[in-house]
Amino acid sequence: MMKESVLDFVKIKQTAETWTREAGEYIKDQMASSSFAISTKANPHDLVTDVDKNVEAFFLDKIRKTYPDHRLMGEEGSFEEIKDLNGTVWILDPIDGTINFVHQSSHFAISIGIYQDGHPVIGIVYDVMNNDMYSSLKGEGATLNEEKIPPIINHSLNESILSFNSGWMLEDRRLERLVKEVRGVRSYGVAALEMAYVAVGKLDAYISFNLAPWDIAGGYALLVEVGGKATNYEGKPLDFLKKDTLIAASPSIHKDIFNIITK
Ligand code: IPD
Ligand code: CA
Ligand code: CA
Repeated sequence: MMKESVLDFVKIKQTAETWTREAGEYIKDQMASSSFAISTKANPHDLVTDVDKNVEAFFLDKIRKTYPDHRLMGEEGSFEEIKDLNGTVWILDPIDGTINFVHQSSHFAISIGIYQDGHPVIGIVYDVMNNDMYSSLKGEGATLNEEKIPPIINHSLNESILSFNSGWMLEDRRLERLVKEVRGVRSYGVAALEMAYVAVGKLDAYISFNLAPWDIAGGYALLVEVGGKATNYEGKPLDFLKKDTLIAASPSIHKDIFNIITK
């Protein structure tokens, strides 16, 4: 398998952003025409549409033709081919926040993490309806719409805003203690964007108990470039080959959360 150079990755990032914007236009067109089919996967709340599948097929085709050495791990089927992270792997969520896409026509994203031998090199989270492109390149930092994102700010816990789906409080009642300590709690239903919000400081932490590699690969690449921290709920490094829990935060809030949930 060929190794990509830093210069190759600059070009790959530009190409990935162009394809992402193109896919975003397709998603907007489909939304406007309301002609896509909606079905369920693992349970009645796990939605998928033709649009999710077509966006993944679009990236699969582009990657195969342009970068035949690269592989794609996408939520809508292509993940089945991926058993390791050797070489260059694109980890794609064609639409993160499909429930928001279907029910709210906003707050969903295309998420891509491009990983080299399991390490994040490029992160892209594209908020389609707001036309906000969050992206990063290893060692070069992260940008929002070409503007450099400053290093993450470590707020104190009582000045911080957290995000998680309210159902997670039923899984771990210790989260109630956290809710009492922080300034506010939000829930957006779009993991990739919530990680991007942590990277830009709109949120100080995002917590989840059930995420797949494609939900977090793009956001994690962004977050590490601005000095953020992400582990699973036990504090262990993330594994991009399986589903897991997540705490993504500024370093000090990550520590504060641990102090509370391990008490
Ligand atoms: C979901 C969203 C949601 C998270 C779920 C994910 P999908 O992704 O990221 O915020 O709570 O765990 O599965 O299904 O919309 O791509
Ligand atoms: Ca997702
Ligand atoms: Ca998805």
